[in-house]
Amino acid sequence: MDDFYKTVFSRRSCRSFDVKPVPEDKLLRILEAANAAPSAHNAQPWHFCVITGEDGKRKLFESAGGAYTSDLMYADMPEDEARRRADESKRFFCSVPVLVIVFVEHISCAPDKRDIERALRVESAAAATAQLLLAAEHEGLNACWYCMPHYCPNVFRDFAGLGEAFEPIALIALGYADKEPKRREKRPLLEKVSVIR
Ligand SMILES: Cc1cc2nc3c(=O)[nH]c(=O)nc-3n(C[C@H](O)[C@H](O)[C@H](O)COP(=O)(O)O)c2cc1C
Repeated sequence: MDDFYKTVFSRRSCRSFDVKPVPEDKLLRILEAANAAPSAHNAQPWHFCVITGEDGKRKLFESAGGAYTSDLMYADMPEDEARRRADESKRFFCSVPVLVIVFVEHISCAPDKRDIERALRVESAAAATAQLLLAAEHEGLNACWYCMPHYCPNVFRDFAGLGEAFEPIALIALGYADKEPKRREKRPLLEKVSVIR
């Protein structure tokens, strides 16, 4: 199998990391790959906030704790479970070598175009995030895409020093796996494709 397909098919979400640091040159190439993604109108409506140091991670998760717990409760999670989830997330994310918060930058536009522009911008940032994951795999690193920023977006936005126009859509954990990540079965291609001749 050639290198590209090897990268695509060997990538899997990693949820347990070694303490080994991520070399800066690899991190830079991974971000360059993400930034080269296709985007609607070539707008590149993304921003990556990269957190490498322990202080930054601790600061983020200390601010996130309360807001994350209340937003999980708002999403119908019982209080004790929400607190346990917030504590567990803090412990886990503070131990991950590199975190990348992916933001979408929204623009103001005419009401009739608002939903379309919003979708195009989120889709573009998601394409960049997918490229980031593949580039990480290609660099021999491991990663996982987490949706946590959807729960307490203001905490992530304030932490990164960004304005209201920026919506955090993903938190990427990046590093070296400390054990082989589990392979998730994929449904067969034929269930997902239709061909019209
Ligand atoms: C939009 C999106 C949100 C995700 N959020 C989470 C998450 O919050 N927690 C988590 O453990 N995995 C999350 N994942 C990873 C998926 O669970 C994972 O991609 C899926 O189970 C398939 O496994 P694979 O990535 O190893 O192929 C997310 C993936 C995507 C694309």
